[in-house]
Amino acid sequence: MTSSRQRLHLILDPEVALPGAQRFRFAQLMLILIGIGCTLVDSIPGIDHQLQMAVEMAIALVGLAFAFEYALRLWCAPDLPRLTWLNPAAARWHWALSPAGIVDLLAILPVTGALTWGMILPPDFAAVMVLLFMLKLSAHTPGARLIGRVIYNERRTLLVVMIMFGIVLIAAATLAHIAERADQPEIFGSIPKALWWAIVTLTTTGYGDVVPQTAFGRIIAGFVMISGIGVLALLAGILATGFSEEVKRRDFVRIWELVARVPLFSGIGAQAIADVVARLKARYFPPGAMVVRRGAPGDSMFFIAAGEVEVRLQPESVILSEGMFFGEMALLDRRPRSADIVTLTSCTMLVLAMPDFFQLAGQHPALAKAIEAEAARRRGDG
Ligand code: CMP
Repeated sequence: MTSSRQRLHLILDPEVALPGAQRFRFAQLMLILIGIGCTLVDSIPGIDHQLQMAVEMAIALVGLAFAFEYALRLWCAPDLPRLTWLNPAAARWHWALSPAGIVDLLAILPVTGALTWGMILPPDFAAVMVLLFMLKLSAHTPGARLIGRVIYNERRTLLVVMIMFGIVLIAAATLAHIAERADQPEIFGSIPKALWWAIVTLTTTGYGDVVPQTAFGRIIAGFVMISGIGVLALLAGILATGFSEEVKRRDFVRIWELVARVPLFSGIGAQAIADVVARLKARYFPPGAMVVRRGAPGDSMFFIAAGEVEVRLQPESVILSEGMFFGEMALLDRRPRSADIVTLTSCTMLVLAMPDFFQLAGQHPALAKAIEAEAARRRGDG
């Protein structure tokens, strides 16, 4: 049985794709953007007094909404999967002291503090609020978690590149110090001083405030610039591949979990499951959606991972639920769809496109046989 706290926890979870959770994320994003927009306006010196009052009021309301959200998150903390082994009070402490809990608390402290004790807002209030709202935004976007995971997965490769970066940086600063110290002692007089030039050159920023004057110094600068491009390209490459692998891995795990709900796939063997998972795409349908229209050409079949659909046969109807499939007849018979199919509840479907269907059927005849047997039964000649 799901309690109201568990349901609320699902809505607050940034990884959940339920419509309620998506609506909550949208509202949260809008509030953060309003908060940022108002604090940006508030930071303009000499703005109209009434406008300033209005934006500060809006910031206070956003702060109150976030305070309410903080209280809800604290209440739901015992339902976080990583904290279910703790008693509720300990789980709430754990969450409050986690990075996400601290960021959420920081985002509400200035506004709630000011409202509660009538404190005078600090002069740099706007700048601080923008930073805190941005921090909150990054802590709650699923993309930010993805970046965190990619950096964690690629930590060893990134460390090697950073060590290379450090070696080139120190070598460049040392050589530039040797080459330039006589001509520009105030800039290249020591290796730590020369490091500023090295870092500006290696990152290809090139402010131009420090320029080597000697021929040797310029040769070194050329090498440093080219190495900088190489190091940055390497970093971008590592992060890009890390991203695409992490996204694929997440999709694979999600589809794998959904596939486990379809009995047809149980017992077909690990290799066949892996082939199936790689070809299926998960799709969400709201209640009342027409998934298949009678007479339309068929280009895919569907497995129901969650929810119920109604197959509108004439004259009667058939209900298909979690674990069942439909849309196979048009593919097997190469005919138009034989019935309308409408969702009765919100549904998660696994969709298999026609070319993948025939490839899978060729590779795994047992699977094809089971689908054909069900289609024959449905045609009434099985
Ligand atoms: P298709 O013809 O591609 O599109 C309509 C789908 O309805 C059809 O494939 C079957 O998957 C499904 N269908 C047709 N007849 C029945 C039935 N008697 N029972 C359950 N499902 C059916």
